[in-house]
Amino acid sequence: MLLAISPFVKWAGGKTQLLKHLEDLLPDTFGTYYEPFIGGGAFLFDTQPQHAVINDINEQLINVYRQLKADPEAVIAAIRELDSIPCDKERYLAVRQQYNEKISSGELDAPCAALMIWVNKHCFNGLYRVNGKGLFNVPYNNKTGGVSMDENNLRGIGQYFRDNDVKIMQGDFMDACADVKEGDFVYFDSPYVPVSDTANFTSYTKDGFALQDHMRLADLFRELSEKGAQLMLSNHNVPLVHELYQGFNIHEMAVRRFINSDATKRTGKEVIITNY
Ligand SMILES: C[S@@+](CC[C@H](N)C(=O)[O-])C[C@H]1O[C@@H](n2cnc3c(N)ncnc32)[C@H](O)[C@@H]1O
Repeated sequence: MLLAISPFVKWAGGKTQLLKHLEDLLPDTFGTYYEPFIGGGAFLFDTQPQHAVINDINEQLINVYRQLKADPEAVIAAIRELDSIPCDKERYLAVRQQYNEKISSGELDAPCAALMIWVNKHCFNGLYRVNGKGLFNVPYNNKTGGVSMDENNLRGIGQYFRDNDVKIMQGDFMDACADVKEGDFVYFDSPYVPVSDTANFTSYTKDGFALQDHMRLADLFRELSEKGAQLMLSNHNVPLVHELYQGFNIHEMAVRRFINSDATKRTGKEVIITNY
């Protein structure tokens, strides 16, 4: 039976809305499940495969997954302590400072995971943004109160990781896919191609995923497809994406986007691409 688990962070590109469509397109059988851009993990927690490899380039996010696997109670206790003082702007900035000290010292432990979850709950729009020194700089969301976690969800995530064969990697998506073989399933949910400014979309992007990265991803998609892996990928419904994945099955879906603070940009079309 599946556990009642869901993302513990609000994450840009969270897939909760697209889940039904992703479920409908998931192959009936597959070997290992790969998710090289795990983010909040909505589809992984929905699917709960027994053999999985998950990855993200964000080492703080991956530290949370690893800490939840090792000892969810340690993370929960540390979040409870952070929640014992009510949040206002001053408190937010003080905790963000603590988090940044952890980042600077490179201590990837349970208290650092707790700080990451707490800060995500109290920062503006659940954004994850760092400055040139790698320090987290998102402002306060101006909301007070409330607990920063669902304890049973965090326990359930830890249990899912421990009861199954789930490898948790941190790095670039290419490395995470090195062992993909025939019959395996890969779901690619990279940062999306921007909807506007596609003409200027070349090297600089605010999420660090440039045109060149989209091209690397499309090359990997073709390579793994030739190996006989079953592949699914989501992105915006823009001409570049159609060009990159020409010849594959492109399914168009209407979605609403909540994370964008500009209400006019909250609706749009996305595509789910499959090679089967
Ligand atoms: C659109 S989000 C994934 C959203 C996720 N599916 C969810 O449901 O929350 C994209 C993720 O890709 C990660 N990322 C960006 N560049 C990457 C790279 N080169 N390799 C691996 N992950 C990367 C980001 O840190 C982010 O978590």
